[in-house]
Amino acid sequence: MRMTVIGTGYLGATHAACMAELGHEVLGVDVDSAKIDSLKDGVVPFYEPGLPEVLTRNLEAGRLDFTTDYGKVAEFANVHFLGVGTPQERGSYAADLTYVYAVIEDLVPLLEGDHIIFGKSTVPVGTADELQKRADELSKPGTTVEIAWNPEFLREGYAVQDTITPDRIVLGVRRGETKAEEVAREVYAQSIADGAPFLVMDRVTSELVKVSANAFLATKISFINAVSEICEIAGGDVTKLADAIGYDDRIGRKFLGAGLGFGGGCLPKDIRAFMARAGELGADQALTFLREVDAINMRRRDRVVQLTRELCGGNLLGHRVTVLGAAFKPNSDDVRDSPALSVAGSLSLAGADVSVYDPKAMDNARKVFPTLGYVDSIEEALEGADVVVLATEWQQFRDLDPQAAGELVNKKIIIDGRNVLDVDKWQGAGWDIHALGRTL
Ligand code: UDX
Repeated sequence: MRMTVIGTGYLGATHAACMAELGHEVLGVDVDSAKIDSLKDGVVPFYEPGLPEVLTRNLEAGRLDFTTDYGKVAEFANVHFLGVGTPQERGSYAADLTYVYAVIEDLVPLLEGDHIIFGKSTVPVGTADELQKRADELSKPGTTVEIAWNPEFLREGYAVQDTITPDRIVLGVRRGETKAEEVAREVYAQSIADGAPFLVMDRVTSELVKVSANAFLATKISFINAVSEICEIAGGDVTKLADAIGYDDRIGRKFLGAGLGFGGGCLPKDIRAFMARAGELGADQALTFLREVDAINMRRRDRVVQLTRELCGGNLLGHRVTVLGAAFKPNSDDVRDSPALSVAGSLSLAGADVSVYDPKAMDNARKVFPTLGYVDSIEEALEGADVVVLATEWQQFRDLDPQAAGELVNKKIIIDGRNVLDVDKWQGAGWDIHALGRTL
């Protein structure tokens, strides 16, 4: 099939490359010419394991191309995927839909014939219906444009795998006459044949599926982090507790990783946008618990800063603190709302001499927080440290040798912000190790 993908960020670039990998002919479009030039050259403008190979393979096979020209998009295909960003609006909890509407405004007047636009961006419930109205107003006489919603559940770090073999495909279609289901079944034929459940519903429900999934995941993480606060005071061990409750398959162990909490471009802004939308719909009370989920999450960052201060004798001023990690999670160079970077920033603002190291996210971190001290290796980061904070659980940090690390630091004090280190090993090498939700 021929199709276009509008927006080439994490979501769009991955979707474009993976659709080509499935054998489709794909044209990706973005208003950012630097991004398009890079993708055309086979260079993914962010870190995503496996994606560069898929990109170059499909560029070379001639199934994939990129452009900044909407005119070409209108001519290339009758099936379009919309994958532009919906960031948090400045000064509010709501999602900023500027980019989504801009696509409809720019593209629809150029279309001729029968087209389907599959929205993949995470949007407030009701957006697809509004976009349909706008598309109906903007389309040329004789042209039809159907808006369907096909939310994306990919995780950064596993984006290729999640796109090629998704755990489910959700499609929201309009009531009445629709061609979207038939077309989507063709687009995703291979994934469906491989066993991916294909769920068709109305557009409103499909929009809600996405935000509900992310709200549930955020709630699960904050639940264990709230219990973690109690463990810290009562003297319990949240990791053993999570193992024990996780064996109940109604609960499950996944996303019960207590620590510095969630960040990234999705979970934090999605729960806020969900609350904002509930308020607009007159159902504020339904989601007030998400405010608490957000607050618990942010408190974990404060806790690490406070613990570091305590370990520096009550004052951070002049103390050397190493922060291992800047990305919001391992296998990503994304620093959007990163707990690691937030902690590093707060420590620095409180007077600590902070040195940050991350295997992939240094460039992005520098752009967001230019005043922090960045170093090029773990060894350099550890040199002379008074306290080490493990903030993102990269494998490289999990594998750190406590003996060798101990020879570089000034004081052997470490905070395991992700509960991933082998406590006995670190204590055996003479380290004073602290972790969230555990008394060690
Ligand atoms: C998330 C959703 O998982 C995905 O389905 C959606 O499409 C986009 O948002 P992503 O942002 O890539 O994906 O990251 P995810 O793996 O969900 O992790 C989110 C955050 O939660 C990270 O900061 C991670 O460190 C944190 N986390 C995760 C925990 O603190 N504890 C856990 O047990 C799991």
